[in-house]
Amino acid sequence: MEKLIIQGPSSLAGNVFVGGFKNAAVAVLPATIIQAGVYNLENIPDITDIDCIETIFTKKGMEWKHHSNNTVTIDTRALATHDFTDDEMSNIRASIYFAGALLSRFGKAVVALPGGCNFGERPIDLHIKGFEALGAVVRQEYGKLFVEAPNGLKGASIYLDTVSVGATVNIMLAAVRATGSTTIENAAKEPHIVDLANFLNNMGAKIRGAGTDVIKITGVSELKGHTSYTIIQDMIEAGTFMIAAAATRGNVFIRNVIPKHMESLTAKLEEMGVGIDTGDDYIHVFPKEWPLGRAVIKTMPYPGFPTDLHPQMATLLTQAQGDSTIKETVWLTRFQYANELNRMGANIDVNCPVAVIHGGEGLTGAPVSASDLRAGAALVIAGLCAQGTTAISGVKYIDRGYENLVDKFKHLGADIERVDD
Ligand code: EPZ
Repeated sequence: MEKLIIQGPSSLAGNVFVGGFKNAAVAVLPATIIQAGVYNLENIPDITDIDCIETIFTKKGMEWKHHSNNTVTIDTRALATHDFTDDEMSNIRASIYFAGALLSRFGKAVVALPGGCNFGERPIDLHIKGFEALGAVVRQEYGKLFVEAPNGLKGASIYLDTVSVGATVNIMLAAVRATGSTTIENAAKEPHIVDLANFLNNMGAKIRGAGTDVIKITGVSELKGHTSYTIIQDMIEAGTFMIAAAATRGNVFIRNVIPKHMESLTAKLEEMGVGIDTGDDYIHVFPKEWPLGRAVIKTMPYPGFPTDLHPQMATLLTQAQGDSTIKETVWLTRFQYANELNRMGANIDVNCPVAVIHGGEGLTGAPVSASDLRAGAALVIAGLCAQGTTAISGVKYIDRGYENLVDKFKHLGADIERVDD
């Protein structure tokens, strides 16, 4: 079993370059199925969630060509089935997006229910509500979702009871070739929603309002079967490195970022006394005050504080003075990381959906286990802050969403190795 071994403490310094956004790429890749064609996609991160999607594509006879520097060419013309029930479908959450894309292409879809990070229930009722509003009949049995639009897909007005990235993505994928117009109310506003809308519009779709809470889609019968597109940078990877720099009193330039996407985190770090300098495409994090002050965090849909930076932030707050709190409003039980940090000497009280982090306790290295992608990142940051050796198992979770994490941290001066037990 692979582990990450970290000798701490270390103070990070230097430049780190952020890669393509996992959560944008896993939405854009299924979108290429909507119209048979050849698509050139740049800035696709080299991570196992993408490997999983590649396996699904190639098993269905579609061509997937790798070029240098994170560019792939995908040919979806050979696809001849609407049945996506291979085992790989239950490895990732984003496999649910094949439902919307296949519905657009074939008017029907059979997909295996998705997997993904395990921090509690991850319903798909809003995805189903969207498909039904567009005229599809949906049934769920044998661990599969059967979706069919016997009379074709017709535009509709859909209100999302909860702001949902996944449901917003899936409804967009299903609506772009529907007859008539669709409005998504209370839509997710994440940058990856905007990225998907930009890609689909490049393919000839007619989507307006992405990035706001009302998205309007005018259905078109055909999309262009070719386009080139560059995926946006990963704001969660950028945030992970910003937090790691702050937690280790480091001096780090995080490059290839879109500072606007980081505003909620930047504001919190500055509040705590972290030095932040922002350029056009970089954020410079440097020591300003120490010890850092406490913080009160409430996770929210974009542009609020991202739930996907919650575990990493908890690690930083163990290094700050005083009692900080994190209230989780998206994944109410996303606290598996806390026990592992407490094994390293942290003092975190969890009473879902709130964690109280009693800061100022030094951390000591220990054997710990990552339970999901972002919890794994939080443990890496803790290992960098801790006195002694930290051994992190569950590396497969980290590999799902971070390309070359070990090399990037090594380049910043961390003593970190990937070993195979
Ligand atoms: C996406 O998950 C991301 N994953 C998650 O990132 C991220 O945490 C989440 O959005 C929130 O930003 C991908 O993009 C692949 P949601 P998703 O639908 O789409 C409720 C990571 O670490 N809900 O926005 O599954 C749900 O329970 C991962 O990169 C329903 O009630 O999240 C939650 O409380 C982890 N019914 C809220 O909405 C539904 O049908 C937001 O979920 C769907 C969701």
